[in-house]
Amino acid sequence: MISKKMEATLNKQIELEAYASFLYLSMASWSDQQGMDGAAKFMLRQSSEEREHMLRIFHYINEVDGHAITPAIKQPPKTFKSINAMLEEVYAHEQKVTKAIHKIVELCYKEDDYTTLNFLQWYIDEQREEEATMRSILDKVKLIGEGGQKLYYIDLELEKFNTVEEGQEAAESDA
Ligand code: FEO
Repeated sequence: MISKKMEATLNKQIELEAYASFLYLSMASWSDQQGMDGAAKFMLRQSSEEREHMLRIFHYINEVDGHAITPAIKQPPKTFKSINAMLEEVYAHEQKVTKAIHKIVELCYKEDDYTTLNFLQWYIDEQREEEATMRSILDKVKLIGEGGQKLYYIDLELEKFNTVEEGQEAAESDA
């Protein structure tokens, strides 16, 4: 059993994760339009992951006898100024999600809700990983600079991340 306040806060988090999923889906579509297949695939995977994040909370709320609410999602941007701006926006959004998770952790301590605290541990680890991935991508983007083949090289870098992720997924499904 969770408090009504915790239920409302977790439902807000569902909304944030769902928006991330739609935002990243929109980014995948825009990347595809730019001819950046690696970026499109990368953003599509990120979008699916965010849906998973949303569903985990959804199931958790119902498991602890709360009511998970399917959120209304505002329209994400359809276009982005540049691939650099788009990736910066992903990083900024991830930082926002991390802050929101930390706020829920604070509430757990206030309410002595150690069940939700334990549930959130997975999100804390996940956010650390996601922020690290985005920082590493942005570092590469900076190294690539503004040369004529910039888009090609950024796309190649994102494709490398796709290959690593696919390898990890394959290893996990074999385990
Ligand atoms: Fe689920 Fe990447 O925040």
